[in-house]
Amino acid sequence: MKIEGRLKRVRGELRVPSDKSISHRAVILGAVARGKTRVKSWLRSEDTLATLNLFKALGTDIKEEGEELTIEGRNFLFEEPSDVLDAKNSGTTARICMGVLATQPFFSVITGDESLRQRPMLRVVEPLREMGARLDGREMGNKLPVSVRGGDLKGISYFNKRSSAQVKSSLLIAGLRAEGTTEILEPVLSRDHTERMLTFFGASLVAVPEEGGHLIKLRGGQELEGREVFCPADPSSAAFFCALTVLAPAGELLLKEVLVNPTRDGFYRKLREMGADLEYENEREVSGEPVADIRVRSGRKLRGVKVYPEEVPTMIDEIPILAVVMALSEGVSEVRGAKELRVKESDRIRAIVKNLRAMGAKVEELEDGFVIEGVEKLKGTKVETFGDHRIAMAFTVAGLLAEGETLIDNPECVRISYPRFFEDLSSVVEYL
Ligand code: S3P
Repeated sequence: MKIEGRLKRVRGELRVPSDKSISHRAVILGAVARGKTRVKSWLRSEDTLATLNLFKALGTDIKEEGEELTIEGRNFLFEEPSDVLDAKNSGTTARICMGVLATQPFFSVITGDESLRQRPMLRVVEPLREMGARLDGREMGNKLPVSVRGGDLKGISYFNKRSSAQVKSSLLIAGLRAEGTTEILEPVLSRDHTERMLTFFGASLVAVPEEGGHLIKLRGGQELEGREVFCPADPSSAAFFCALTVLAPAGELLLKEVLVNPTRDGFYRKLREMGADLEYENEREVSGEPVADIRVRSGRKLRGVKVYPEEVPTMIDEIPILAVVMALSEGVSEVRGAKELRVKESDRIRAIVKNLRAMGAKVEELEDGFVIEGVEKLKGTKVETFGDHRIAMAFTVAGLLAEGETLIDNPECVRISYPRFFEDLSSVVEYL
């Protein structure tokens, strides 16, 4: 796909597609709960469809009508799947669903696409084994395909050293069916949608403030009750438009109904720290999650900034687009403590560094991040997405702001999280 850097301004309003993390969890909790769950404004993308199809393969009745799902909860009584389960490109599907499979006495195998089959799984396989499930897979269980035979679980105390929400969610869901209490300690609170949604579905959890961390406790044997869940707009998708607006020559954009959960909005706080003109309006709570409309304006000069390791979980998926903003800000910016980016849908540190350098930015690669010296203007180039949706969208934004032409090698990969990205983009930009 060819992008020309002739951006004049950004304007209008946009309701970006619903949050991917919440859409996955609405299907998962709806399926394990008792009774009916209705999901409103569900994100229909390749990743979330992988979760939906996985639960269908376990015998769950799920009806889709437009953006609404009706799920007949199975109260943890699933059927043995007759074939291998496919998480496709979705780490969230693979890791959280392993927690569900670990509660089931039957045999199942879960796999994924070429990218997911290279990503580490031991972080969830090990604690699930400790809870009593039998899991095996390539590289001693670290790589998909992974087989699971579960049941008879017991609660464990687990230190989630990477502050991974996927790991935490997997163990909490398995913990619902375990004997005793499941305790998870993480150094920094990772996205807490599972805790919020478990509470919304009637479970009780205890959060204990800990010296240097965050502890969550869940008593086993609790049943969930089906609910009506509303999915707000995804802050990780809205981030591309927010960045484009703050960097555009002129304009103003209203991003509607965006999830502003404090475990997810670090990117927006960082932009404000850089000097961006951005505010939350009409703040409210929907299905247990904070939501706001975000008004963003262009025209301010942005300054370079540091991202510290403890801030990384609140903006982990936004770092590719934040790097583009950093490359066009005054002075030096730095991201540290983000080694996890190397095992996302692609090695995102490598992808950011390679593409930004090709666009003329000065970037130093670090094992756990990067240092960027801002430039006045980027130049168009051939962008390598590595099949990674967030790299494709971040560098489309960079291309719109660059001099000359930018070529995106695999634009279709945006289907993973944001199928109508290019259409939405066309609806808010004006060219010279
Ligand atoms: C997610 C958690 C994060 C994030 C991913 C979605 C989730 O991954 O990067 O896109 O929905 O729980 P980790 O749990 O590996 O940090």
